[in-house]
Formats: sequence, structure tokens, C-alpha cells
Amino acid sequence: MIGRLNHIAIAVPDLPTAVARYRDLLGADVGPPQPLPEHGVTVVFIDTGNSKVELLEPLGEDSPIAAFLAKNPAGGMHHVCFEVPDIATAAARLSAGGARVLGDGRPKTGAHGNPVLFLHPKDFDGTLIELEEVASGSAG
Ligand code: CO
Repeated sequence: MIGRLNHIAIAVPDLPTAVARYRDLLGADVGPPQPLPEHGVTVVFIDTGNSKVELLEPLGEDSPIAAFLAKNPAGGMHHVCFEVPDIATAAARLSAGGARVLGDGRPKTGAHGNPVLFLHPKDFDGTLIELEEVASGSAG
């Protein structure tokens, strides 16, 4: 069901510092900061050729990554995102199999403008998994 790894998301306490490290020390192809108030984060994408890294910094009062950074003040890996061809089919299969889809269980529009949903980390070895609907053949 799942396809390619779309991105790995890393929560960071200080975005400019993290960006500078990826750009200057790792020589990464780092994009511009994108504030996404509706998602409570500012995001920077790093193109790694075969996938992406998404650096996430909290934005606003109710950031979904604030609690994570409170527990992990140095930052850390927040979630991995896999592509699926049809998110409704994916959600139905997961629910039927006993996996918990977070929130109200319905897809939302993610940072790339595609439908996404998140799966409970306790159902996947302590890892928060995001599924993103990406039409097959198009690189997300
Ligand atoms: Co993500």
C-alpha cells in the first residue's frame, strides 16, 4: 500500500540554527522557511534527491509540535511520511486492521497541499506515521 518515503520530519527548537547546520556543515540543498499558521509550524524543506527532510519549528500558541519539543528540548525526529495512492482506501484498511487514525479519522490538507492523515505512534513501534496522498508518477 505505501509507496516512497516522502519526507522525514525533524522538530527543531531553533530553525535558523538548524538550517545553517544542514546548509553549511552537511552541504544540503535547503529551501526557504515557509510559515504555515494553519498547521502551527514553520517548515523548511531539504531536498535529499531520493526524499526530503522537513525541519519543523513551532509557530503560534497551539503548535502541534510544542509538546514534543517540551519533552525533547534538543529537537528530534518527529514523524516519517509515506506516500499512498488513495488516502481514503488507506484509512479504511488501517481502521479495519485496528490501527488508530489520529484526529477525527478523516484526511486533512497537509503542508504540500495534498490530503494527509497521521497514525497513532503506539500502533507503529513508537513512531508517528504520516500518510500523504500523491498521485502515482508525480514526485511529491
Ligand atoms: Co510531514
